[in-house]
Amino acid sequence: MESLDETEETLRGQALVWKHMFAFADSMALKCAVELRIPDIIHSYGGRPVTLAQIASRIPSASPGTPYLARIMRLLVRKNIFSANGCPPDGSPESHETLYSLTPSSRWLLQGPGSELSLAPMVLMEDHPWLMSPWHCLGDCVRTGGIAFEMAHGRKVWDFASENPEFNRLFNDGMACTSKITVRAIVEGYKEGFESIGSLVDVGGGIGGALAEIIKSYPHIQGINFDLPHVVATAPAHERVTHVGGDMFDTVPQADAVFMKWIMHDWGDEDCVKILRNCRKAIPEKNGKVIIAEIVLKPEGGGMFDEMGLVFDMVMIAHSSGGKERDELEWKKILEEGGFPRYNIIKTPSLVSIIEAFPL
Ligand SMILES: C[S@@+](CC[C@H](N)C(=O)[O-])C[C@H]1O[C@@H](n2cnc3c(N)ncnc32)[C@H](O)[C@@H]1O
Repeated sequence: MESLDETEETLRGQALVWKHMFAFADSMALKCAVELRIPDIIHSYGGRPVTLAQIASRIPSASPGTPYLARIMRLLVRKNIFSANGCPPDGSPESHETLYSLTPSSRWLLQGPGSELSLAPMVLMEDHPWLMSPWHCLGDCVRTGGIAFEMAHGRKVWDFASENPEFNRLFNDGMACTSKITVRAIVEGYKEGFESIGSLVDVGGGIGGALAEIIKSYPHIQGINFDLPHVVATAPAHERVTHVGGDMFDTVPQADAVFMKWIMHDWGDEDCVKILRNCRKAIPEKNGKVIIAEIVLKPEGGGMFDEMGLVFDMVMIAHSSGGKERDELEWKKILEEGGFPRYNIIKTPSLVSIIEAFPL
């Protein structure tokens, strides 16, 4: 007969499977809250806790499904995306209506006032059916060694973006919002690193958000935002930033230093080495450097973002063309082959670290 401990352990095992089987329900409830702008609605009441009816009244619909909303909010409260308490809204003891407030998590989901740093566009991007469908192909990736995004959409992610303006916008907006957040952290963690640089090229810089943020803190830097032509074609103008369209596998514009955020993780080792060699040609040999903002995997690490590093590695299987997240040894190998034998890793208060690498 099983002991009580064994029964408990078995049941916990079962509960864990249920949890992971439906983990996507968390993502979908989160996406729903962002689509309906629930964080903005709560915020619009000026910081006071609000009732469900008050939230529902600001959803643009003639007849919002309030009972659905209540159930979605109940889950999101349990997940600490929102908080709820039963304080009476009018002070009377008989009223026990639930009142909802923002938490430190939902403050990252604002899209209107107060949303300078927001992950909302990233939620809308990552949880869109276009980016969800390749996740169903992980098994086929293992079976065939193929590329999940191509299996789902018949072409690579960058070709899909160049043919589909709506996806292009969704993707670039998602990237730009995370850039703003991580660049703040990068500037905090790598203050002196940018000081001696006169010109900086952001390779694969998207619509230029990261470079614009860096230059806000370092107005002496002349920035070149370099990305594929269909991406820079939609980029807004930023002060002291020139947009240049091209292909980093052909050539990279010249500058004192290269910045690359979330580029190398999109590619396999051979492609990374090609990109690094082009970066090396673009900077002065003596005092040039590449500043790479990427995850440095610590698979067993206990840091706040270490588990997310492993999740991002799955994102790379689902969305990239042969890319992966790398641990320090893997970084060292491609840096050396790409012409950067010397490097430092600097931690920042974000998902990514800075890998500062030198040609000599
Ligand atoms: C994951 S996104 C990162 C964007 C930006 N660095 C950021 O972190 O927000 C990768 C970027 O690489 C760009 N890219 C892909 N292939 C490229 C190529 N061959 N040459 C230049 N840029 C490329 C994409 O258009 C995209 O903007």
